[in-house]
Amino acid sequence: MSGNTFGKSFTLTTFGESHGPALGGVIDGCPAGVPIDIEAIQKDLDRRKPGQSAIVTQRKEPDTVEIYSGVFEGKSTGTPIGFVIHNTNQKSKDYTHIKDSYRPSHADYVYDQKYGFRDYRGGGRSSARETAARVVAGSIAKQLIAPVHIQAFVSAVGELTLPNPEKISDFSFIEQNPVRCPDPAMAAEMESYIKQVRKDGDTVGGVITCVAKNVPVGLGEPVFDKLHAVLGQAMLSINAVKGFEYGSGFAGAVLRGSAHNDLYNEDGTTKTNNSGGVQGGISNGMDIYFNVAFKPVATIMQSQETIDNKGETVTMEGKGRHDPCVVPRAVPIVEAMTALVLADFTLRNRNSKL
Ligand SMILES: Cc1cc2nc3c(=O)[nH]c(=O)nc-3n(C[C@H](O)[C@H](O)[C@H](O)COP(=O)(O)O)c2cc1C
Repeated sequence: MSGNTFGKSFTLTTFGESHGPALGGVIDGCPAGVPIDIEAIQKDLDRRKPGQSAIVTQRKEPDTVEIYSGVFEGKSTGTPIGFVIHNTNQKSKDYTHIKDSYRPSHADYVYDQKYGFRDYRGGGRSSARETAARVVAGSIAKQLIAPVHIQAFVSAVGELTLPNPEKISDFSFIEQNPVRCPDPAMAAEMESYIKQVRKDGDTVGGVITCVAKNVPVGLGEPVFDKLHAVLGQAMLSINAVKGFEYGSGFAGAVLRGSAHNDLYNEDGTTKTNNSGGVQGGISNGMDIYFNVAFKPVATIMQSQETIDNKGETVTMEGKGRHDPCVVPRAVPIVEAMTALVLADFTLRNRNSKL
């Protein structure tokens, strides 16, 4: 299996499976002298961890990060930062029913076909448990790129959609509700809808909007490594993500240039921001904003027809502890991947001119 490393100058390699003893990562390229706040890292991990509210999987994991190298007396030393999160609450028996058969729309079938071998307990490496390591590294990346501020939030659950999420400027309610939606009335509706979906033994998708503020002009490389292209790869590498759009996105396709162009103020800022903070693949100093669409995840608490590894039709029962809607827990993952991209381009930008 290749492709376990993300980034070019600030890189993260992750390892571990959801039912192994631990998962973790190695960050390479973090400059020396970055103040590292371990409490802030743990706070981000707590926002992702299972069992945090009634609307997520009820698996209880403390998800405590242990940093093994690269940090001394509260600062990065410039050496690789190695860290581990122990798995403490696996119930591998919950997965014996999928040992020889494939959950529809999960990664079971393709893993078996590609590797001829599959760690069926918890989905192995295809499990979103891997993203805990991304959250640790993303939290360190956030600390490297401060005062850039990255804020993600839930802007849709099923058909419940917040209008114009990119215009939201009051983020104070996001961490006050289990859905992580900034609007109190919509948050309450979304929460009761997710509870209903769970009662029905089903799952539902949603959208996360992310805004990055105080981003300097100049991040991103103009050809293959355009800022929005790498952001797109980062987001589409998150489990269950089905779509990415930045700036005006698909809605921009119906406009005319005269309505879509972002006209300049004399200081180089723009009067509108249909560009989503990126022009020609390079940040222009305006807010970067984008939407990430998540599917309703595959594991439903209902019986479904599927096939086994002999190609025979079988009925699969829904079992185990799963998320009815992943977007509340995916908010810190989206922020982490954004921070990794911006940290990487911040370091690469040091070579852009004398
Ligand atoms: C935070 C988070 C939690 C997830 N929890 C579950 C889950 O409980 N059950 C499930 O079937 N999929 C879950 N997923 C999605 C699967 O990991 C993902 O659908 C699977 O690996 C197949 O990949 P794909 O959907 O990207 O094609 C979760 C995803 C995220 C981001």
